[in-house]
Amino acid sequence: MVTSNNGTSLNVLVLHGPNLNLLGKREPEIYGVLTLVEIDRLLTKKAEELKVCIKIQQSNHEGELVTAIHEALGQQQGILNNAGAYTHTSVAIRDALAGVALPTVEVHLSNIYRREEFRHHSWIAPIALGQISGFGANSYLLGLEALVSHLRNYDLLSLQ
Ligand code: DQA
Repeated sequence: MVTSNNGTSLNVLVLHGPNLNLLGKREPEIYGVLTLVEIDRLLTKKAEELKVCIKIQQSNHEGELVTAIHEALGQQQGILNNAGAYTHTSVAIRDALAGVALPTVEVHLSNIYRREEFRHHSWIAPIALGQISGFGANSYLLGLEALVSHLRNYDLLSLQ
């Protein structure tokens, strides 16, 4: 678990699901060469820029991810979530996110819609604010920006 506190009141939980601990050596042609530690470092730097506090957790176990989501209640105001393969299978994670009702952005390193058909369905997307998929590690950084903008009530369109 990595926690960075930038002295602000906005707290975000970053949740990595199964097999993401293998990043770097796991199918690099699909997921890229960055390790999870390197991605977490990039996220920590982005959180500093955005002046938010992030708590990062990874688990290979569905129940632990459900518990982490429950524990976010009262601690964090939003969730950045890459549920990995559980995206396509886990009603329990979807129900946990719906249950705590914290704004959630779903992210994926790969573009799940350009891959096998079983990856095209996400149980999480219907209850998420939105989904960012296909930009490698940048999906996480873009997702964090989108979540923080939402939590801070920025309307990007109104800035134009
Ligand atoms: C993933 C896509 C999922 O289909 C896959 O099971 C993963 C990683 C991604 O980040 O591209 O584990 O969530």
